[in-house]
Amino acid sequence: MNKILLCGCGNMGGAMLRGWMNSGVNTMDIMVLERKHFDRVKFDGITFISEITESLLKERIACIVIAVKPSHIEPLLTQLDPLIKLKPMILSVVAGKNTDQFSLYNNPVVRVMPNTPSAINQGNLVMYKNSYVDSGLKRFAESLMEPLGLNFWIEDESMMDLMTAVSGSGPAYVFYFMKLLKDRLIKGGIDPMLSDQLVLNLISGSVAYKKVTGKSLEDLIDQVTSPGGTTEAALNVLRDSGELDTVIHKALDAAIERSKNL
Ligand SMILES: NC(=O)c1ccc[n+]([C@@H]2O[C@H](COP(=O)([O-])OP(=O)(O)OC[C@H]3O[C@@H](n4cnc5c(N)ncnc54)[C@H](OP(=O)(O)O)[C@@H]3O)[C@@H](O)[C@H]2O)c1
Repeated sequence: MNKILLCGCGNMGGAMLRGWMNSGVNTMDIMVLERKHFDRVKFDGITFISEITESLLKERIACIVIAVKPSHIEPLLTQLDPLIKLKPMILSVVAGKNTDQFSLYNNPVVRVMPNTPSAINQGNLVMYKNSYVDSGLKRFAESLMEPLGLNFWIEDESMMDLMTAVSGSGPAYVFYFMKLLKDRLIKGGIDPMLSDQLVLNLISGSVAYKKVTGKSLEDLIDQVTSPGGTTEAALNVLRDSGELDTVIHKALDAAIERSKNL
């Protein structure tokens, strides 16, 4: 691996770093630019820096990974300017910011929409590249994303808003759904710890079952739904009222709209 500088080691940058470390990436190849200090102990062997120094400019940084909040980009890019001038590849995971915003000196830019399961190498990583990314750099970007999970390229950058809404934000929807189920169990008198385990096993068991059987979602729903039974009673409310479909579409549209306006 060529040297990479990860800028921002919070929720998402930290998840990617953890995923790289799990997959045996040489920690000597990664440097992290961060403002925080307390998390460093979690990333043994990684060099943390807090400013761009002359000696860093002499390092052969092949790729800058940008993982700060959209509102923190401008000061970061100003800070990184002497490094960006050297034309490394920029890999941005920033929601709502297109590749043009990072190609300050005609830099090759890869925009990625990851998600937090990248920390355990089970992420979704959707990639888009600008025209300065040649086949060697494309391969380099793939070599960085492959250890983190399922990854693929899209040709149309505007699709990133949809990918952000479904895949980038998606873990939060899953956890919210789990929380609703857990809260109902607790309300019904089940111990909170057991409620947590039951919901976790329900979701992980269902996902594993889907993977192993390879059946369609529709078939798997039918398998649980007997005519006149309990599942049908619940599905009549969930599905037939149309309210859940409407609310999910509204929620995704809100995320897409936010991504467009970040
Ligand atoms: N979280 C997700 O699930 C997710 C999913 C997909 C994409 N993303 C994208 O990932 C990016 C980061 O999100 P996040 O949730 O990881 O945010 P976060 O937890 O706030 O992490 C960002 C980190 O970058 C640091 N930082 C900001 N400016 C810096 C600078 N100039 N130099 C060094 N460090 C700096 C922040 O420090 P301070 O706290 O001191 O500001 C913070 O520790 C966002 O653009 C988001 O759109 C996130």
